[in-house]
Amino acid sequence: MFSKGLKGIIAAETMISQVDGENGELLYRGYEIKDLVKGKSFEEIAYLLWYGELPSSEQLDELKNTLIKNRYLPEHMIKILTTLPAEMDLMSVIRTCISAEGLQEYGWKPTVEQAIRLTSIIPIIISYRTRIVRGQEIITPSLELGHVANYLYMLEGKLPNAAHCEALEMYMILTLEHGMNASTFSARVTASTESEMISGITSAIGTMKGPLHGGAPAGVLAFLEEIDESEDSTIECIRKKIIKGERLMGFGHRVYKTLDPRAAALKAKLMELVGEDRWLDLAIEVEELSIKALEELKPGRSLYTNVEFYAAAIMKAIHFDPALFTPTFTASRVVGWSAHVLEQAEDNTIYRPESTYIGPKY
Ligand code: SDX
Repeated sequence: MFSKGLKGIIAAETMISQVDGENGELLYRGYEIKDLVKGKSFEEIAYLLWYGELPSSEQLDELKNTLIKNRYLPEHMIKILTTLPAEMDLMSVIRTCISAEGLQEYGWKPTVEQAIRLTSIIPIIISYRTRIVRGQEIITPSLELGHVANYLYMLEGKLPNAAHCEALEMYMILTLEHGMNASTFSARVTASTESEMISGITSAIGTMKGPLHGGAPAGVLAFLEEIDESEDSTIECIRKKIIKGERLMGFGHRVYKTLDPRAAALKAKLMELVGEDRWLDLAIEVEELSIKALEELKPGRSLYTNVEFYAAAIMKAIHFDPALFTPTFTASRVVGWSAHVLEQAEDNTIYRPESTYIGPKY
């Protein structure tokens, strides 16, 4: 049975998350995401995804200490970070460095320790590289701060603003995991051949890089800036794009046929974080007009706001450079990817769909 892009095809059974596209709900290990983002830390939710249950305070402390113990890069990776061409994009740098991590003794069987290691080093790779390219001194990782706070500290070289840290932590929790999205599927296909954790995560990073998947937030920001600078009204800009056949970045989703619950949570946090703000007002106006225009010009496609729309607005509100958007998504989604690699490793059924030949025969 042919289904373009495997639309509607169930490729695995999983205990990790449930993406309910009809009702606009997301569950991590049976817990609704809207409950988990209230007062839980990145580390607690990462523990839940890797181990299948929320941690006790001792278990949480142990995970936090293991993440902190892993806040270092091997010498060969620091050499790579300093010698890769300055114009190389950050996602390619991350993909290269994670491949280089594979020189460590890993063995094929994926482990949670490997998942923790990779989760710990991706923010360090991002912040080291960002500061090297900017000509700034690199910041030694904190051995006290939490995972998200340390990321901001290493990027900015100062203790992070608490409100920014809270907003970023919510974004990273909301994007930790999302079922069988394209990059997670890549990780599972790689793991299904009994290839090791590093290769699975490297496959996923390459997939995440695409603008239709992880690259959307930068596209959303460009969309908002284009509208802001245009002589045309907001609705005219939106309609022109759709009529030209261009996709509105931050809208539409393969599974959600209603509002993405993560977008709603980010929008609420954004309003709390920035209150009255010209960009937020523009984003809300663009969201409302885009949904109406898509309903009129693309009837029946159920195109609503997805996580990336307000992800872009949150990143702008905390003054993140757009080059950091997809890398930050990667720094959170590595938890979901690694959880799926661990789950896939328990089932050695290799992914091997078929294809229909439509070419000539001689
Ligand atoms: C993420 O899968 C996940 O879970 C991903 C993610 C995660 O957490 O991992 O949620 C993260 O990737 C969110 C999506 C970010 N991408 C974007 O915002 C880019 C813009 N959106 C799209 O390109 C699109 O909506 C997709 C790729 C997200 C989903 O596309 P589908 O479901 O495969 O739909 P399709 O490409 O088959 O399009 C169906 C129709 C087409 O029109 P017709 O050919 O029928 O006339 O809907 C149209 C499309 O042109 N359409 C859009 C549109 N998205 C689909 N038209 C205008 N703007 C859009 N955004």
